[in-house]
Amino acid sequence: MDYFTVRPSQTQFFKTVPFYYQSEEGEFLLYKKAGDMLDAERTENTRHPHLFISNKDKDTALKELTTGLNREFERLLRQGGGLLEIKQALGNIVREALTPGQETAMLALPETIDILFKNMDQDHTTMEYLAQMATASEFMVEHTVNVTALTLQYCFFKKMNEGETSVYALCALLHDVGVATLDKSLVNTTERLTEKQFQRYQAHAEAGHDMIILNTDFNIAVANVALEHHERLDKSGYPNGINTLCMESQLIGFIDCYEALTYRDKTFRKAKTPFKTLHLIKEEVIAGKFSPRLFKAFTSCLTR
Ligand SMILES: [Fe+2]
Ligand SMILES: [Fe+2]
Repeated sequence: MDYFTVRPSQTQFFKTVPFYYQSEEGEFLLYKKAGDMLDAERTENTRHPHLFISNKDKDTALKELTTGLNREFERLLRQGGGLLEIKQALGNIVREALTPGQETAMLALPETIDILFKNMDQDHTTMEYLAQMATASEFMVEHTVNVTALTLQYCFFKKMNEGETSVYALCALLHDVGVATLDKSLVNTTERLTEKQFQRYQAHAEAGHDMIILNTDFNIAVANVALEHHERLDKSGYPNGINTLCMESQLIGFIDCYEALTYRDKTFRKAKTPFKTLHLIKEEVIAGKFSPRLFKAFTSCLTR
């Protein structure tokens, strides 16, 4: 297909690229030329047809979109917008990076983190609330935003400097980016995966690593975390069954596990309270899967 769909909620972000609509005969016809904005009133009343952007304009369009989403996020943080709105705005940015075929959307994320830092309240309470709050977004988006919020909460608690914290935040935002390459049926399910499906699901670790290496020049830790966040210190993890993981992979892997148990309400497994989750993870620590020091530090971070 030479054209891709514009989400109706995002039409206002595009100026430099032309829009097309599809005629009854299936032909793509120009709807708005490059440089024009859509009529705001019509957009508000959603009176536009289904709109498309040409694939040849994809990179420009994605850049414009992610810049617009970052501006929106910044505006909400600056104006002290509602927490739910802030979380959704961050979710909108993450969603683009997790959309299949949109690898370059990742490139907007360092700016997102920058905006977060510049507009963060001094005592970092926003981050704590964001981590606790549930939104109605799709589950990978929600999961990624939660993991990122918990990671930032931990970095602030450990009083890491801004440079270190940024790397951790980027690792968290992109740890599951490889999921974009998986078949949707493996991701949007609340059922337990079969053995075969789980094997296919595991491919997201290597896929994410390769996507990051290929499309960005981010700190190498970001690609490492995508590859290693399901590895465990007792070598029981995947994809390689190694126990020599970097600190970033250990932390994000730990938080990934904590988030999944605490927040997700799968049909075969009810979401658990933080206390119960920590109790369960403690057993994993005793079994040698996670570092006891990390467990202790994260527990104090949550219960401080
Ligand atoms: Fe993962
Ligand atoms: Fe994850």
